[in-house]
Amino acid sequence: MKDINIPASRFSTNSRVVFFTGAGISAESGISTFRDIDGYWSKYDPTKLASPQGFDEDPDLVLQWYAARRKKIKKARPNKAHLAISDFQKLFTDSMVITQNVDGLHWQAGNAPVLELHGNIHREKCFTCGRPGSEVASTKGAKSYCTCGGLMRPNVVWFGESLAMSTLSDAFEATRQCDIFFTIGTSALIYPAAQLPYEARNTGAFVIEVNPEETPFSEAADLSVRGKAGEILPKIFREFNAAIS
Ligand code: OAD
Repeated sequence: MKDINIPASRFSTNSRVVFFTGAGISAESGISTFRDIDGYWSKYDPTKLASPQGFDEDPDLVLQWYAARRKKIKKARPNKAHLAISDFQKLFTDSMVITQNVDGLHWQAGNAPVLELHGNIHREKCFTCGRPGSEVASTKGAKSYCTCGGLMRPNVVWFGESLAMSTLSDAFEATRQCDIFFTIGTSALIYPAAQLPYEARNTGAFVIEVNPEETPFSEAADLSVRGKAGEILPKIFREFNAAIS
């Protein structure tokens, strides 16, 4: 692979770095994305599986789909891209991950802190009162109930629902303050998360996109690198490490 031309010497170990990630960063761990040709939303209807209306109409269908995803995710391990972020975080100690993923692989890789914009698939909350439930939700898909009598559901954000305000405002704050912003493995289509790379750009960060495909954001990036995150991120890390460590 040829060198990726990064103006790494413009930065120092004090530079603040944000890693914004989407489903593509977990693809090399064997977890499906949503909008690729074989992604979830090419096979399933998101309004049935990932909306409050869908859960109201057929909770068993939704619980079983999330249980099957959970089972698959439990067997998955962080890949070279997650591990490269851990390396970056040793170099740039003022850095964080903002993810749209619900799989928890960033935590498993030791990335920290991690803001989970769309929740976490392993946790549950009550569909009626919102009270948090188990942090190790079932991989069987059976119904369980809150003390208020409401049905427990996955603690993830569904279509038509709002993101947690404090998480979202922390994400925007970190984005506005960072010097380098990576946008990795996201189609950059789902708002408000998709606004973050633009916010980073508008507030002066150097924005690097890593994705095998072009996205609506690609043209606005300072550097848009085509390729798999597990191959590209270790290479970008080596460039930064050689220039500034
Ligand atoms: P998408 O499925 O929309 O996009 C995945 C992106 O990953 C695509 O742009 C792919 O080209 C890219 N990709 C695939 N393999 C890759 C690899 N090995 N390395 C790097 N990139 C790769 O997933 P998201 O952008 O995460 O929302 O989707 C955003 C949100 O839409 C999700 O959080 C989910 C979904 O509906 C909720 O569940 C609320």
